[in-house]
Amino acid sequence: MSKTKTTLLCFLLTAVILMNPSSSTPTDNYIYAVCSPAKFSPGSGYETNLNSLLSSFVSSTVQIRYANFTVPNKKPEPGVTVYGVFQCRGDLDPTACSTCVSRANAQIGTLCSNSYSGFLMMDSCLVQYDNSSFFGVQDKTLRLNKCGQAMEFNDQDGLTRISDVIGSLGSGSQPYRTGGNGNVQGVAQCMGDLSTAQCQDCLSDAIGRLKSDCGMAQGGYVYLSKCYARFSVAGSHARQTPNYEGEKKDSKDDDNGVGKTLAIIIGIVTLIILLVVFLAFLGKQCRKLQDEKWCK
Ligand SMILES: *[C@@H]1O[C@H](CO)[C@@H](O)[C@H](O)[C@H]1NC(C)=O
Ligand SMILES: *[C@@H]1O[C@H](CO)[C@@H](O)[C@H](O)[C@H]1NC(C)=O
Repeated sequence: MSKTKTTLLCFLLTAVILMNPSSSTPTDNYIYAVCSPAKFSPGSGYETNLNSLLSSFVSSTVQIRYANFTVPNKKPEPGVTVYGVFQCRGDLDPTACSTCVSRANAQIGTLCSNSYSGFLMMDSCLVQYDNSSFFGVQDKTLRLNKCGQAMEFNDQDGLTRISDVIGSLGSGSQPYRTGGNGNVQGVAQCMGDLSTAQCQDCLSDAIGRLKSDCGMAQGGYVYLSKCYARFSVAGSHARQTPNYEGEKKDSKDDDNGVGKTLAIIIGIVTLIILLVVFLAFLGKQCRKLQDEKWCK
C-alpha cells in the first residue's frame, strides 16, 4: 500500500516537472505579443493578403531595417486590405534582421492565428499587421514594463551610471539610440513610421517611466506601443536583466510569488494545528497522570 502511494507521488512530481512551462518552448524568443480577439474566417481574402504581406517582409529585409506594406497596394478595401510593418533593432546587420523577421513571422502565425491584427516584439525585431492603417499614428499605450533586482543600496557610482545612461537615451533626434557608461548599457528605439517629434514624445514617456520605476534596479525595460527603452547592468552577481521572454514567463514569475506566500501560510497554519494537537495531547496526559509532580 505504501509502495503504491510512493509510486503515485513520484508520478505526480514527474507530471508537475514535465508540465512546468519554463521548459523551452518554440516561442521563448519573443518578448510580448498582442493579438486581436476578432478573427477572420480561414480562406477569406484577408487571409490571402495577410500571407502575401508576411512573405513580403521576408523578401525585403535584406535591404532595410524598417518597411511598411499595404496589400493589395491600391485603393483600400475595408475588410480585405492588410497593413503591416517590420522593424529590426538599429544595430542589426541585414542577415540577422532577415533571420529575426522570419522567426517572428512564423511565431505570429501561431500566436495570433486568424487574428485581424497582431503585434509581436522579439528581442531584436518586431512585426505588426492590422486591418486599418496605423502608419505614422502615435500610440503610447504601455505594453510591458519590468525592473530587475534592486541595486546594492550603497552603490552610488552604479546608480550614477544608470542615471547617466537613462538620461543619454532621452537626448538626440535619432529613432535608434544607445548609451553606455561602464558596465551599464542602454537601448531605445521608435517605430520607423513616427516623425522625429512623435518619436521624442514617445521616448520621453518611456524613459521617464524607466527612470522612475527602475532607476534603482539592475536593469529594466518599458515597452510602449510605438517605442521602447531599456537598460542592463553587467558584471553583477545577481540576475542582471529582467527576463525578456514575454508574458508567459512573467505571469509564471508572479505565480511563483503567490506560490511562495501560499507555502508560508500553509506552513504557519500547519504549525499552529500541530501545536494545538500537541497541547491537547499534553493536557490529556496531564489529567491521566495528575498525581505526578510536574503536572501540578
Ligand atoms: C477590422 O476588424 C474589426 C474586427 O472584425 C472590425 O470591427 C473593423 O471594422 C475592421 N476594420 C476595417 C477598417 O475593416
Ligand atoms: C511607408 O513606406 C513608404 C515607402 O516604402 C514611405 O515612402 C512612407 O514614408 C512610409 N510611411 C510611413 C508613415 O512611414
